[in-house]
Amino acid sequence: MELSTNTQAIAYLVSAVLFILALKGLTHPATARRGNLYGIAGMAIAIGATLAGSEVQSYGLIAIAIVAGAAIGAVVAMRIQMTAMPQLVAALHSFVGLAAVLVAIGTFINRRAAETLNPVLMGELSAGIVIGAITFTGSVVAFGKLQGLLSGKPVRFNGQHLLNAAMGVAAIGFAVHFAMTGSLVSLVAITVLALVLGTTLIIPIGGADMPVVISMLNSYSGWAAAATGFSLGNNLLIIVGALVGCSGAILSYIMCRAMNRSIFNVVFGGFGTDGGESSATGEATQQGIKSASVEDAVYWMEDAGRVIIVPGYGMAVAQAQHALKELMELLEARGVEVLFAIHPVAGRMPGHMNVLLAEADIPYDHVLEMDEINPDFPSTDVALIVGANDVVNPAAKEDPSSPIYGMPILEAGRARQVYFLKRSLRPGYSGVDNLLFYQENTSLIFGDAKDTIEGMVGALKGGRH
Ligand code: TAP
Repeated sequence: MELSTNTQAIAYLVSAVLFILALKGLTHPATARRGNLYGIAGMAIAIGATLAGSEVQSYGLIAIAIVAGAAIGAVVAMRIQMTAMPQLVAALHSFVGLAAVLVAIGTFINRRAAETLNPVLMGELSAGIVIGAITFTGSVVAFGKLQGLLSGKPVRFNGQHLLNAAMGVAAIGFAVHFAMTGSLVSLVAITVLALVLGTTLIIPIGGADMPVVISMLNSYSGWAAAATGFSLGNNLLIIVGALVGCSGAILSYIMCRAMNRSIFNVVFGGFGTDGGESSATGEATQQGIKSASVEDAVYWMEDAGRVIIVPGYGMAVAQAQHALKELMELLEARGVEVLFAIHPVAGRMPGHMNVLLAEADIPYDHVLEMDEINPDFPSTDVALIVGANDVVNPAAKEDPSSPIYGMPILEAGRARQVYFLKRSLRPGYSGVDNLLFYQENTSLIFGDAKDTIEGMVGALKGGRH
């Protein structure tokens, strides 16, 4: 059955509304599942309406693509580790960028054969190619950095920004020439310049800024999809592309604000290191750092009025969230108030900690954002820092020479007792030493976070205190 253009337009409108409801649902963990369902329904309607439209030329090829794509997607989705999600997202953005470039080139070839090219269409095509190609190579570089295939260090050289600006201006020049003349040489020049620009724009950005880069590339992939929508005359693609483009831009802004940086500073700052190997491990005492046992921490926690747990990337690595839920319940049964403090960039992607805590069924009203919970630390008996590091580092407030200076932090150091659960003295993602390790009221409990928490749970259950 072939859908009429009107019916298809109505189906697209319904999809667009469902996508907006999906975005709204995704703004809170409590409504995120419903949001996902709206998104799935919207996408199912969109695909159905497109397949039933008059433009389809070969169902066979589409079926092959869907089966192959779905099979690869299903395997990747089942096997992917939560900690590898950022690079998966980067890889997926690169596909959107590449698709935008290929669709634009394909549309050019078809429309040239049909002699229906015009300057407006060619302007749209060149926009799709520039944005798509930058998204493609930029996302490939971001993937390489996050996957550890490329160094996470900023790659910088003299005249870098000038070179990027020159390539940007040249690409725009060729785009204008292409729109006016349909020159194949200009089309190739735009494509090559934008592919190179995607690489040179992302290599100077350090590993610690990758989350912002990923959300920026997310925004670019949206605009690339919108440009593709213009090339194909597909309104839904334009709407969805604009939704993705805007939400990615808003997310980038929120993340920059959470790190007290401007987007300009992120893009041109060259901040961050490999996140790499640190100074010493296991030499805590020599450096005036106190180590403690599970029993020490349990002793303080079971009689506490309030314990605040600060989860970070290490909680995700250790998969300690379920053990934390048990610890929370045992402490609450003893009358201790237990809260979780979430820093906006804790973990490796926006909402990383919220998702893991939700997976362990930790009630949402126990999970507080940085601004809400910071005033509570001074009246808190124990701050339990579970695999977090940068997000509690006072260097961000006290050391103007620190690369993370200016980033707002969770003020865990103001609690009466601070326990760090980590495996070594290695620094966090930014590669910066943590001043909180050396504070009088801080002790480190070395080991895998899940093992340590399970030890605490065992000690509380055993009533050895
Ligand atoms: P980090 O500063 O990266 O620190 C994580 C700590 O977890 C490390 O010091 C590590 O120490 C410890 N750890 C790792 N595996 C562990 C395990 N199995 N058991 C116990 N501890 C373990 O994490 P954070 O405080 O969450 O800060 C996030 C950082 O990542 C920020 O710098 C942020 O800018 C950056 N970042 C954020 C995002 C987003 S959007 N959230 C994305 C990319 C990057 P040991 O090795 O000694 O155990």
